[in-house]
Amino acid sequence: MTILGIDIGGTGIKGAPVNVATGELLAERFRIPTPKPALPNAVADVVGQIASHFKYKGPTGVTFPGIVKKNVIYSAANVDHSWLQVDAAKLFHRHLGGPVTVVNDADAAGIAEMHFGTGQGKRGVVIMLTFGTGIGSAIFHNGVLVPNAELGHIQLRGKDAEKRCSERVREEKEMSYKKWAKIVSEYLATLEKLFSPELFIIGGGISKKADKFLPYLTAKTDVLIQPAKMQNDAGIIGAAFLAKIPS
Ligand code: BGC
Repeated sequence: MTILGIDIGGTGIKGAPVNVATGELLAERFRIPTPKPALPNAVADVVGQIASHFKYKGPTGVTFPGIVKKNVIYSAANVDHSWLQVDAAKLFHRHLGGPVTVVNDADAAGIAEMHFGTGQGKRGVVIMLTFGTGIGSAIFHNGVLVPNAELGHIQLRGKDAEKRCSERVREEKEMSYKKWAKIVSEYLATLEKLFSPELFIIGGGISKKADKFLPYLTAKTDVLIQPAKMQNDAGIIGAAFLAKIPS
């Protein structure tokens, strides 16, 4: 079964049709920069353009970089605040036609990794972290998601962790991967204390550079630290996968 997955990020909106039985992208993904400001109607228009690019009509899964409960947006740290309380599925439906499922971006990426990637078959507590414009997180216990975890906003030396060590902060401060990995290791140590995970999956924009930073990441416990298999496509794949059964 083919379903369109669309991943809304702070800098780009990307989509592709996905084979939801295998988790494979069926065409090269199509990306449009996130409108500035990222107002609901402007973003919804881009979502519609992505569907038109693939001449797609049908169920669609869309991620959002904030808290999403029953398709309604409850936080918008890296997009415009006018998203708060918006029923995003209703809004996107007007630009897409078919049924729409909206889910937090990191939750979607985590679902994809647990079903088709690094987390496949992993028991115990698994934490997926996505490093991009912000830091996204998804917590799983024995494969079951606890949605909207928001661990990017845990305090690290008196500041939101995502203000210390997102990929955007690394780029803006021109930090070496070694220096960045040192701060991330401190962040992981905090999460280890709070959640005692078996595995951290490192995803988001940074995951394609895993060879550059993984050697420098350290853990305090016996937790494994592994890169996301689907790298930055995990959000698209997870969104499409979740749209199989529209909510
Ligand atoms: C948001 C999360 C999101 C993450 C990655 C954070 O600022 O609060 O909901 O998953 O950024 O986009």
